[in-house]
Amino acid sequence: MSDSLTTPPLSLYVHLPWCVRKCPYCDFNSHEYKGGKGSALPYDAYVDALLADLEHDLPLVWGRPVHSVFFGGGTPSLFPPEFIDRFLQGASARLRFAPGCEITLETNPGTAEHGRFELYRGAGVNRLSFGIQSFDDGCLQRLGRIHDSREAEAAVKLAQDAGFDNLNLDLMYALPGQTLAMAERDLERAFALDPAHLSHYQLTLEPNTVFAARPPQGIPDEDSAWDIQEHCQALIAARGYEHYEVSAYARPQRRCAHNLNYWRYGDYLGIGAGAHGKITLGAEQAILRRWKHKHPTEYLAKAGSEAGIGGDDRIAPERRPFEYMLNVLRLVEGFSLADYEARTGLARAGIATQLQAAFDAGWLEQSGDRVRPTELGRRFTNDVVALFLPD
Ligand SMILES: C[S@@+](CC[C@H](N)C(=O)[O-])C[C@H]1O[C@@H](n2cnc3c(N)ncnc32)[C@H](O)[C@@H]1O
Ligand code: SF4
Repeated sequence: MSDSLTTPPLSLYVHLPWCVRKCPYCDFNSHEYKGGKGSALPYDAYVDALLADLEHDLPLVWGRPVHSVFFGGGTPSLFPPEFIDRFLQGASARLRFAPGCEITLETNPGTAEHGRFELYRGAGVNRLSFGIQSFDDGCLQRLGRIHDSREAEAAVKLAQDAGFDNLNLDLMYALPGQTLAMAERDLERAFALDPAHLSHYQLTLEPNTVFAARPPQGIPDEDSAWDIQEHCQALIAARGYEHYEVSAYARPQRRCAHNLNYWRYGDYLGIGAGAHGKITLGAEQAILRRWKHKHPTEYLAKAGSEAGIGGDDRIAPERRPFEYMLNVLRLVEGFSLADYEARTGLARAGIATQLQAAFDAGWLEQSGDRVRPTELGRRFTNDVVALFLPD
Protein backbone atom coordinates (compact mmCIF):
# COMPACT_ATOMS: atom_id res chain seq x y z
CA MET A 1 0.00 0.00 0.00
CA SER A 2 1.19 3.53 -0.74
CA ASP A 3 0.54 5.58 2.37
CA SER A 4 -1.30 8.18 0.33
CA LEU A 5 -4.95 8.16 1.42
CA THR A 6 -6.01 11.82 1.32
CA THR A 7 -9.32 13.34 2.38
CA PRO A 8 -11.61 14.07 -0.60
CA PRO A 9 -14.44 16.67 -0.66
CA LEU A 10 -17.15 16.19 1.94
CA SER A 11 -20.93 16.13 1.39
CA LEU A 12 -23.87 15.84 3.77
CA TYR A 13 -26.80 13.50 3.09
CA VAL A 14 -29.97 13.95 5.15
CA HIS A 15 -32.65 11.26 5.00
CA LEU A 16 -36.31 12.18 5.55
CA PRO A 17 -38.11 8.84 5.58
CA TRP A 18 -41.85 9.44 5.14
CA CYS A 19 -44.09 9.36 2.06
CA VAL A 20 -47.81 9.92 1.51
CA ARG A 21 -48.05 6.50 -0.10
CA LYS A 22 -45.48 3.78 -0.74
CA CYS A 23 -44.91 3.30 -4.50
CA PRO A 24 -45.00 -0.38 -5.49
CA TYR A 25 -41.59 -0.29 -7.23
CA CYS A 26 -39.69 1.53 -4.48
CA ASP A 27 -37.14 -0.10 -2.16
CA PHE A 28 -35.87 3.09 -0.55
CA ASN A 29 -36.17 3.47 3.21
CA SER A 30 -39.54 5.19 2.93
CA HIS A 31 -42.51 4.72 5.19
CA GLU A 32 -46.09 5.44 4.31
CA TYR A 33 -47.51 7.99 6.67
CA LYS A 34 -51.15 7.21 7.25
CA GLY A 35 -51.99 10.75 8.34
CA GLY A 36 -52.33 11.90 4.71
CA LYS A 37 -50.15 14.78 3.54
CA GLY A 38 -48.19 14.70 6.74
CA SER A 39 -50.24 16.83 9.09
CA ALA A 40 -49.08 15.01 12.17
CA LEU A 41 -45.56 13.88 11.36
CA PRO A 42 -43.09 14.46 14.23
CA TYR A 43 -41.29 17.24 12.37
CA ASP A 44 -39.83 18.97 15.40
CA ALA A 45 -38.64 15.79 17.07
CA TYR A 46 -37.11 14.59 13.81
CA VAL A 47 -35.17 17.84 13.25
CA ASP A 48 -33.90 17.59 16.86
CA ALA A 49 -32.84 14.01 16.17
CA LEU A 50 -31.05 15.03 12.94
CA LEU A 51 -29.10 17.77 14.71
CA ALA A 52 -28.16 15.44 17.57
CA ASP A 53 -27.11 12.81 15.01
CA LEU A 54 -24.98 15.38 13.15
CA GLU A 55 -23.40 16.58 16.39
CA HIS A 56 -22.47 13.00 17.26
CA ASP A 57 -20.77 12.49 13.88
CA LEU A 58 -18.86 15.80 13.94
CA PRO A 59 -15.61 14.42 15.42
CA LEU A 60 -15.26 12.37 12.22
CA VAL A 61 -14.96 15.52 10.10
CA TRP A 62 -13.52 18.31 12.31
CA GLY A 63 -12.62 21.38 10.30
CA ARG A 64 -13.66 20.04 6.90
CA PRO A 65 -16.03 22.21 4.82
CA VAL A 66 -19.20 20.74 3.33
CA HIS A 67 -19.54 21.12 -0.44
CA SER A 68 -23.10 19.85 -0.91
CA VAL A 69 -26.19 18.94 1.08
CA PHE A 70 -28.88 16.59 -0.21
CA PHE A 71 -32.26 16.05 1.44
CA GLY A 72 -33.36 12.65 0.12
CA GLY A 73 -36.13 10.29 0.93
CA GLY A 74 -38.72 9.36 1.32
CA THR A 75 -40.37 12.62 0.44
CA PRO A 76 -38.41 15.54 1.91
CA SER A 77 -40.98 17.98 0.50
CA LEU A 78 -43.44 16.65 3.10
CA PHE A 79 -41.46 18.70 5.60
CA PRO A 80 -42.73 22.29 5.72
CA PRO A 81 -40.03 24.89 4.97
CA GLU A 82 -39.63 26.07 8.57
CA PHE A 83 -38.24 22.65 9.55
CA ILE A 84 -35.79 22.58 6.65
CA ASP A 85 -34.79 26.10 7.68
CA ARG A 86 -34.27 25.10 11.31
CA PHE A 87 -32.18 22.12 10.28
CA LEU A 88 -29.99 24.16 7.90
CA GLN A 89 -29.43 26.86 10.50
CA GLY A 90 -28.47 24.22 13.06
CA ALA A 91 -26.20 22.45 10.58
CA SER A 92 -24.43 25.65 9.50
CA ALA A 93 -23.77 26.49 13.15
CA ARG A 94 -21.97 23.15 13.48
CA LEU A 95 -20.30 22.77 10.08
CA ARG A 96 -18.71 25.16 7.60
CA PHE A 97 -20.63 25.29 4.30
CA ALA A 98 -18.24 25.96 1.38
CA PRO A 99 -19.09 29.00 -0.80
CA GLY A 100 -21.60 28.00 -3.48
CA CYS A 101 -22.60 24.88 -1.51
CA GLU A 102 -25.27 23.02 -3.52
CA ILE A 103 -28.35 22.28 -1.37
CA THR A 104 -30.88 19.93 -3.00
CA LEU A 105 -34.33 18.92 -1.80
CA GLU A 106 -36.15 15.95 -3.33
CA THR A 107 -39.71 16.92 -4.12
CA ASN A 108 -42.77 14.86 -4.91
CA PRO A 109 -45.08 16.88 -7.19
CA GLY A 110 -48.03 15.59 -5.15
CA THR A 111 -46.83 17.61 -2.16
CA ALA A 112 -46.28 20.97 -3.90
CA GLU A 113 -48.19 23.82 -2.30
CA HIS A 114 -48.44 27.42 -3.35
CA GLY A 115 -45.96 29.61 -1.49
CA ARG A 116 -43.78 26.77 -0.22
CA PHE A 117 -41.01 26.98 -2.78
CA GLU A 118 -40.18 30.62 -1.95
CA LEU A 119 -39.71 29.56 1.67
CA TYR A 120 -37.47 26.60 0.79
CA ARG A 121 -35.36 29.04 -1.19
CA GLY A 122 -35.31 31.43 1.75
CA ALA A 123 -34.09 28.56 3.93
CA GLY A 124 -31.09 28.09 1.60
CA VAL A 125 -32.25 25.30 -0.72
CA ASN A 126 -30.88 26.13 -4.19
CA ARG A 127 -31.71 22.99 -6.17
CA LEU A 128 -34.86 20.85 -6.40
CA SER A 129 -35.12 17.30 -7.68
CA PHE A 130 -38.64 16.39 -8.79
CA GLY A 131 -39.83 12.77 -8.84
CA ILE A 132 -41.83 13.00 -12.07
CA GLN A 133 -41.37 9.40 -13.39
CA SER A 134 -43.62 9.89 -16.44
CA PHE A 135 -46.02 12.40 -17.97
CA ASP A 136 -48.40 9.64 -19.06
CA ASP A 137 -51.35 9.44 -16.68
CA GLY A 138 -51.86 5.71 -17.35
CA CYS A 139 -48.21 5.01 -16.50
CA LEU A 140 -48.40 7.20 -13.40
CA GLN A 141 -51.42 5.26 -12.21
CA ARG A 142 -49.78 1.91 -12.79
CA LEU A 143 -46.76 3.21 -10.81
CA GLY A 144 -49.06 4.08 -7.91
CA ARG A 145 -48.07 7.75 -7.98
CA ILE A 146 -50.06 10.30 -5.97
CA HIS A 147 -50.03 12.94 -8.75
CA ASP A 148 -51.03 13.16 -12.41
CA SER A 149 -49.05 14.76 -15.22
CA ARG A 150 -50.77 18.17 -14.98
CA GLU A 151 -49.98 18.38 -11.27
CA ALA A 152 -46.37 17.50 -12.05
CA GLU A 153 -46.09 20.27 -14.63
CA ALA A 154 -47.82 22.75 -12.32
CA ALA A 155 -45.44 21.90 -9.46
CA VAL A 156 -42.35 22.47 -11.62
CA LYS A 157 -43.75 25.80 -12.82
CA LEU A 158 -44.49 26.89 -9.24
CA ALA A 159 -40.86 26.19 -8.36
CA GLN A 160 -39.62 28.12 -11.40
CA ASP A 161 -41.88 31.06 -10.53
CA ALA A 162 -40.36 31.01 -7.05
CA GLY A 163 -36.94 31.57 -8.66
CA PHE A 164 -35.51 28.03 -8.78
CA ASP A 165 -33.47 27.65 -11.96
CA ASN A 166 -31.46 24.59 -10.93
CA LEU A 167 -34.01 21.79 -11.27
CA ASN A 168 -33.69 18.08 -11.85
CA LEU A 169 -36.53 15.95 -13.16
CA ASP A 170 -36.46 12.19 -12.45
CA LEU A 171 -38.01 10.11 -15.23
CA MET A 172 -38.19 6.34 -15.42
CA TYR A 173 -38.42 4.29 -18.62
CA ALA A 174 -39.23 0.67 -19.55
CA LEU A 175 -42.48 1.17 -17.64
CA PRO A 176 -45.38 -1.29 -17.78
CA GLY A 177 -47.16 -0.81 -21.10
CA GLN A 178 -44.67 1.82 -22.32
CA THR A 179 -43.66 1.95 -25.99
CA LEU A 180 -40.66 3.80 -27.44
CA ALA A 181 -43.01 6.54 -28.72
CA MET A 182 -44.45 6.97 -25.22
CA ALA A 183 -40.97 7.26 -23.69
CA GLU A 184 -40.13 9.91 -26.31
CA ARG A 185 -43.31 11.83 -25.49
CA ASP A 186 -42.30 11.83 -21.80
CA LEU A 187 -39.02 13.45 -22.79
CA GLU A 188 -40.72 16.06 -24.96
CA ARG A 189 -42.90 17.11 -22.02
CA ALA A 190 -39.80 17.27 -19.82
CA PHE A 191 -37.89 19.40 -22.37
CA ALA A 192 -40.83 21.81 -22.52
CA LEU A 193 -40.12 22.60 -18.84
CA ASP A 194 -36.45 23.33 -19.64
CA PRO A 195 -34.88 21.66 -16.57
CA ALA A 196 -31.14 22.09 -15.93
CA HIS A 197 -30.77 18.35 -15.25
CA LEU A 198 -32.50 15.11 -16.16
CA SER A 199 -32.20 11.70 -14.51
CA HIS A 200 -33.45 8.89 -16.72
CA TYR A 201 -33.68 5.57 -14.88
CA GLN A 202 -34.64 2.17 -16.19
CA LEU A 203 -37.38 0.75 -13.96
CA THR A 204 -35.92 -2.14 -12.00
CA LEU A 205 -37.85 -4.76 -10.05
CA GLU A 206 -36.21 -4.46 -6.67
CA PRO A 207 -36.46 -7.40 -4.24
CA ASN A 208 -39.02 -6.95 -1.45
CA THR A 209 -41.25 -4.58 -3.41
CA VAL A 210 -44.84 -5.11 -4.53
CA PHE A 211 -43.66 -5.13 -8.17
CA ALA A 212 -41.11 -7.89 -7.47
CA ALA A 213 -43.76 -10.04 -5.80
CA ARG A 214 -46.35 -9.41 -8.53
CA PRO A 215 -44.65 -8.01 -11.63
CA PRO A 216 -47.03 -5.80 -13.61
CA GLN A 217 -48.06 -6.75 -17.15
CA GLY A 218 -46.27 -5.29 -20.14
CA ILE A 219 -42.80 -4.43 -18.86
CA PRO A 220 -40.60 -4.05 -21.99
CA ASP A 221 -38.01 -6.85 -22.36
CA GLU A 222 -34.26 -6.12 -22.10
CA ASP A 223 -33.83 -5.51 -25.85
CA SER A 224 -36.75 -3.08 -26.01
CA ALA A 225 -35.48 -1.35 -22.87
CA TRP A 226 -32.05 -0.98 -24.47
CA ASP A 227 -33.70 0.41 -27.60
CA ILE A 228 -35.60 2.99 -25.53
CA GLN A 229 -32.42 3.91 -23.67
CA GLU A 230 -30.37 4.43 -26.85
CA HIS A 231 -33.04 6.52 -28.56
CA CYS A 232 -33.69 8.63 -25.48
CA GLN A 233 -29.99 9.15 -24.87
CA ALA A 234 -29.65 10.61 -28.38
CA LEU A 235 -32.74 12.80 -27.96
CA ILE A 236 -31.49 14.20 -24.66
CA ALA A 237 -28.03 14.89 -26.11
CA ALA A 238 -29.61 16.67 -29.10
CA ARG A 239 -31.20 19.11 -26.63
CA GLY A 240 -27.82 20.16 -25.27
CA TYR A 241 -27.62 17.97 -22.15
CA GLU A 242 -24.29 16.26 -21.45
CA HIS A 243 -24.57 12.59 -20.59
CA TYR A 244 -22.15 12.36 -17.67
CA GLU A 245 -23.25 9.28 -15.71
CA VAL A 246 -25.23 6.11 -16.56
CA SER A 247 -28.60 7.82 -15.85
CA ALA A 248 -27.68 11.50 -15.48
CA TYR A 249 -27.72 14.34 -18.03
CA ALA A 250 -26.97 18.00 -17.39
CA ARG A 251 -26.76 21.36 -19.05
CA PRO A 252 -23.18 22.75 -18.95
CA GLN A 253 -22.17 23.63 -15.36
CA ARG A 254 -25.31 21.97 -13.99
CA ARG A 255 -24.09 18.52 -13.03
CA CYS A 256 -25.24 17.41 -9.60
CA ALA A 257 -22.28 18.22 -7.34
CA HIS A 258 -23.63 15.96 -4.60
CA ASN A 259 -24.01 12.83 -6.72
CA LEU A 260 -20.73 13.56 -8.52
CA ASN A 261 -18.99 13.46 -5.17
CA TYR A 262 -20.44 9.96 -4.52
CA TRP A 263 -19.41 8.77 -7.97
CA ARG A 264 -15.88 10.15 -7.51
CA TYR A 265 -15.60 8.18 -4.26
CA GLY A 266 -15.77 11.33 -2.19
CA ASP A 267 -16.77 11.47 1.48
CA TYR A 268 -20.20 12.03 2.96
CA LEU A 269 -21.83 12.17 6.34
CA GLY A 270 -25.17 10.36 6.36
CA ILE A 271 -27.68 11.49 8.93
CA GLY A 272 -31.31 10.48 9.35
CA ALA A 273 -33.04 7.09 9.53
CA GLY A 274 -31.07 4.42 7.66
CA ALA A 275 -28.59 6.95 6.23
CA HIS A 276 -25.13 5.71 5.27
CA GLY A 277 -21.92 7.72 5.50
CA LYS A 278 -18.39 7.18 4.18
CA ILE A 279 -15.53 9.08 5.76
CA THR A 280 -11.80 9.00 5.06
CA LEU A 281 -9.77 9.18 8.26
CA GLY A 282 -6.44 10.54 6.97
CA ALA A 283 -4.51 10.21 10.24
CA GLU A 284 -5.46 6.55 10.57
CA GLN A 285 -5.22 5.80 6.83
CA ALA A 286 -8.68 4.25 7.07
CA ILE A 287 -12.04 4.58 5.34
CA LEU A 288 -15.02 4.30 7.67
CA ARG A 289 -18.57 3.41 6.75
CA ARG A 290 -21.26 4.26 9.29
CA TRP A 291 -25.00 3.78 9.12
CA LYS A 292 -27.96 4.70 11.29
CA HIS A 293 -31.00 2.76 12.46
CA LYS A 294 -33.43 2.29 9.66
CA HIS A 295 -36.80 2.50 11.29
CA PRO A 296 -37.91 6.07 12.06
CA THR A 297 -39.24 5.16 15.52
CA GLU A 298 -35.98 3.55 16.62
CA TYR A 299 -34.01 6.36 14.99
CA LEU A 300 -36.02 9.01 16.83
CA ALA A 301 -35.45 7.24 20.13
CA LYS A 302 -31.68 6.75 19.76
CA ALA A 303 -30.25 9.40 17.41
CA GLY A 304 -27.31 11.33 18.79
CA SER A 305 -26.05 8.58 21.12
CA GLU A 306 -23.73 5.64 20.59
CA ALA A 307 -26.87 3.46 20.51
CA GLY A 308 -28.09 5.47 17.51
CA ILE A 309 -25.33 4.06 15.30
CA GLY A 310 -26.65 1.10 13.30
CA GLY A 311 -23.09 0.01 12.55
CA ASP A 312 -19.51 1.04 11.77
CA ASP A 313 -17.25 -0.74 9.33
CA ARG A 314 -13.76 -0.06 8.02
CA ILE A 315 -13.30 -0.74 4.33
CA ALA A 316 -10.44 -3.22 4.08
CA PRO A 317 -7.79 -2.21 1.53
CA GLU A 318 -8.56 -5.37 -0.56
CA ARG A 319 -12.10 -4.18 -1.07
CA ARG A 320 -11.32 -0.60 -2.04
CA PRO A 321 -10.50 -1.16 -5.75
CA PHE A 322 -13.92 -2.76 -6.30
CA GLU A 323 -15.77 -0.07 -4.36
CA TYR A 324 -13.91 2.67 -6.17
CA MET A 325 -14.66 1.18 -9.61
CA LEU A 326 -18.31 0.55 -8.72
CA ASN A 327 -18.65 4.33 -8.42
CA VAL A 328 -16.25 5.92 -10.90
CA LEU A 329 -17.06 3.59 -13.79
CA ARG A 330 -20.61 4.96 -13.77
CA LEU A 331 -19.08 8.22 -15.00
CA VAL A 332 -18.52 8.94 -18.68
CA GLU A 333 -15.31 10.79 -17.66
CA GLY A 334 -14.01 7.70 -15.80
CA PHE A 335 -11.17 8.44 -13.37
CA SER A 336 -7.52 9.41 -13.17
CA LEU A 337 -4.95 6.98 -11.81
CA ALA A 338 -3.64 9.71 -9.47
CA ASP A 339 -7.13 10.05 -8.07
CA TYR A 340 -7.40 6.27 -7.66
CA GLU A 341 -4.26 6.34 -5.51
CA ALA A 342 -5.36 9.34 -3.44
CA ARG A 343 -8.84 8.03 -2.72
CA THR A 344 -8.05 4.37 -2.09
CA GLY A 345 -4.57 4.81 -0.58
CA LEU A 346 -3.38 2.03 -2.92
CA ALA A 347 -0.71 2.01 -5.62
CA ARG A 348 -1.90 1.80 -9.24
CA ALA A 349 0.39 -1.19 -9.79
CA GLY A 350 -2.07 -3.26 -7.74
CA ILE A 351 -4.75 -3.01 -10.44
CA ALA A 352 -2.51 -3.20 -13.52
CA THR A 353 -3.61 -6.78 -14.38
CA GLN A 354 -7.33 -6.02 -14.10
CA LEU A 355 -6.97 -2.81 -16.11
CA GLN A 356 -5.11 -4.68 -18.85
CA ALA A 357 -7.90 -7.28 -19.00
CA ALA A 358 -10.46 -4.47 -19.37
CA PHE A 359 -8.40 -2.75 -22.12
CA ASP A 360 -8.07 -6.10 -23.96
CA ALA A 361 -11.85 -6.66 -23.76
CA GLY A 362 -12.45 -3.18 -25.21
CA TRP A 363 -14.29 -2.10 -22.02
CA LEU A 364 -11.91 0.63 -20.90
CA GLU A 365 -9.51 2.97 -22.69
CA GLN A 366 -6.62 5.05 -21.39
CA SER A 367 -5.25 8.40 -22.44
CA GLY A 368 -2.46 9.78 -20.27
CA ASP A 369 -3.41 9.33 -16.64
CA ARG A 370 -7.15 9.05 -17.39
CA VAL A 371 -9.10 5.81 -17.78
CA ARG A 372 -12.58 5.89 -19.30
CA PRO A 373 -15.24 3.30 -20.04
CA THR A 374 -15.83 2.76 -23.78
CA GLU A 375 -19.35 2.52 -25.29
CA LEU A 376 -19.06 -1.24 -24.93
CA GLY A 377 -17.80 -0.93 -21.35
CA ARG A 378 -20.76 1.27 -20.48
CA ARG A 379 -23.08 -1.48 -21.64
CA PHE A 380 -21.33 -4.07 -19.47
CA THR A 381 -20.50 -2.02 -16.39
CA ASN A 382 -21.22 -4.91 -14.02
CA ASP A 383 -18.72 -7.18 -15.80
CA VAL A 384 -16.05 -4.48 -15.84
CA VAL A 385 -16.49 -3.74 -12.15
CA ALA A 386 -16.46 -7.46 -11.30
CA LEU A 387 -12.83 -7.63 -12.52
CA PHE A 388 -11.87 -5.66 -9.41
CA LEU A 389 -13.57 -7.91 -6.84
CA PRO A 390 -11.15 -9.15 -4.17
CA ASP A 391 -10.01 -12.79 -4.65
C1 LIG B 1 -35.70 8.27 -3.55
S1 LIG B 1 -36.61 8.56 -4.98
C2 LIG B 1 -37.04 10.18 -4.45
C3 LIG B 1 -38.08 10.95 -5.21
C4 LIG B 1 -39.41 11.17 -4.51
N1 LIG B 1 -39.53 10.38 -3.34
C5 LIG B 1 -40.48 10.77 -5.49
O1 LIG B 1 -40.62 9.58 -5.73
O2 LIG B 1 -41.16 11.65 -5.98
C6 LIG B 1 -35.45 8.91 -6.28
C7 LIG B 1 -35.78 8.42 -7.66
O3 LIG B 1 -35.37 7.09 -7.86
C8 LIG B 1 -36.08 6.52 -8.93
N2 LIG B 1 -36.49 5.16 -8.58
C9 LIG B 1 -37.06 4.75 -7.45
N3 LIG B 1 -37.30 3.41 -7.49
C10 LIG B 1 -36.86 2.97 -8.70
C11 LIG B 1 -36.83 1.70 -9.35
N4 LIG B 1 -37.31 0.60 -8.78
N5 LIG B 1 -36.28 1.62 -10.59
C12 LIG B 1 -35.77 2.72 -11.18
N6 LIG B 1 -35.78 3.95 -10.62
C13 LIG B 1 -36.30 4.09 -9.39
C14 LIG B 1 -37.28 7.43 -9.18
O4 LIG B 1 -37.12 8.10 -10.41
C15 LIG B 1 -37.23 8.39 -8.01
O5 LIG B 1 -37.71 9.66 -8.35
S1 SF4 C 1 -42.59 8.76 -3.25
FE1 SF4 C 1 -40.43 8.31 -3.83
S2 SF4 C 1 -39.43 7.52 -1.95
FE2 SF4 C 1 -41.66 7.54 -1.59
S3 SF4 C 1 -42.31 5.47 -2.05
FE3 SF4 C 1 -42.55 6.67 -3.94
S4 SF4 C 1 -40.58 6.47 -5.07
FE4 SF4 C 1 -40.25 5.76 -2.96
